Amino acid sequence: MASASVVAAVAVALHVLAAVVWIGGAFFALMALRPASLPLEPGPRLALWTRTLNRFFAWVIASIVVLLITGFGMIFVVFGGFAGIGLYVNLMMAIGIVMMLAFFHIYFAPFRRLRTAVGRGDLAMAARQLNQIRWLVTVVLILGLITIAIGSSGRYWG
Ligand code: HEM
Repeated sequence: MASASVVAAVAVALHVLAAVVWIGGAFFALMALRPASLPLEPGPRLALWTRTLNRFFAWVIASIVVLLITGFGMIFVVFGGFAGIGLYVNLMMAIGIVMMLAFFHIYFAPFRRLRTAVGRGDLAMAARQLNQIRWLVTVVLILGLITIAIGSSGRYWG
């Protein structure tokens, strides 16, 4: 196998695994853990979410690093630079960057306030922050699903 093919095969596999970790985790959080956690009392529920998101967001940061390295790695090594990429890779890159900015907003604004509020025992404030996180993660999840559809089908149309 030529060395560019080895780079492409490893990079695309890592790229897709990182997307699975991020978007699969967001899907699980919203579609399974959220409804399952609703019957809990606010105190334990908010503490559970703070611990869960603390762990999950560390994986999201790792996924973002992998997506960026492998995504731009493929653009330069496999496609020979930005001039060689099709519409679908441009769309994936643009939506992917918006998703990453939205994630870092979540991480440094409502999630930081959620941790502080839970630490102080301010449950009303913590619930407001968790609600904001839920809406933003919903946006990221929808964008992520669209990006996966674009990235995986694009070679046939873009
Ligand atoms: C700055 C961000 C990104 C860049 C530069 C980038 C770049 C790329 C490139 C160059 C490919 C290979 C295309 C091909 O071989 O035809 C690719 C594939 C793919 N990307 Fe991205 N990507 C980014 C973000 C994302 C994100 C955020 C997701 C999903 C959440 C994603 C999901 C995928 C998928 C599913 C594939 C298709 C793999 C396959 O079926 O071969 N990418 N990406």
